[in-house]
Amino acid sequence: MLVTLEGIDGSGKTTVWEALRDARGDGYTFTREPTDSWYGEAVRRSEAERDADPLAELFLFTADHADHLSRVVRPALDRGDVVVSDRYSDSRYAYQGVALDGLVPRPMEYVRGVHQPWTRPPDVTLYFDVDPETGAARSGATNKFEQAEFLGRVRENFEQLVEYEPERFVRIDAAQPPEDVLEDAEDVLDRVLADE
Ligand code: TMP
Repeated sequence: MLVTLEGIDGSGKTTVWEALRDARGDGYTFTREPTDSWYGEAVRRSEAERDADPLAELFLFTADHADHLSRVVRPALDRGDVVVSDRYSDSRYAYQGVALDGLVPRPMEYVRGVHQPWTRPPDVTLYFDVDPETGAARSGATNKFEQAEFLGRVRENFEQLVEYEPERFVRIDAAQPPEDVLEDAEDVLDRVLADE
């Protein structure tokens, strides 16, 4: 089973991912995008660059995803592991869907279309929902993706994705105190694993 954690910057999902990783052992693979491969490093260099070309950046993120799939995600799923990824393809649809605005028609659909023939869609996505002002304040607004205005538009894209596939997404109120967010995430994960 492939479980992904998604949300805007400052939604607290990485804290949850770390706590889950520390609490769960055998039978789980904890992973993330951007990855720590050289593809992931290229992505981080591009992110730090205010003037990076958004299309070039999309394909760096996408290359990192392709490598992540073949090197980590598919082998772990083949072993029968529960894979828990901190960010995955929905981050591309939501973030690059904003970053590519004006460069291609219907950017989010374009990015989804680029992935569709070869990606492995998540079975369940925990969507950590928080308002963009809180997200930007929590994340410190240090990179170009962490500004409240940008995050507001990313959040709209996440909402659109939830609307497309309501059965895949479970919304978690990420404005709650961190311990309550973690408790909700634990409950959701236990429920979906029990249902499997
Ligand atoms: P992180 O904060 O979870 O490490 O993610 C790094 C940043 O990269 C975050 O601002 C979200 C952004 N991002 C994208 O724009 N597209 C993607 O495909 C991914 C995985 C992350």
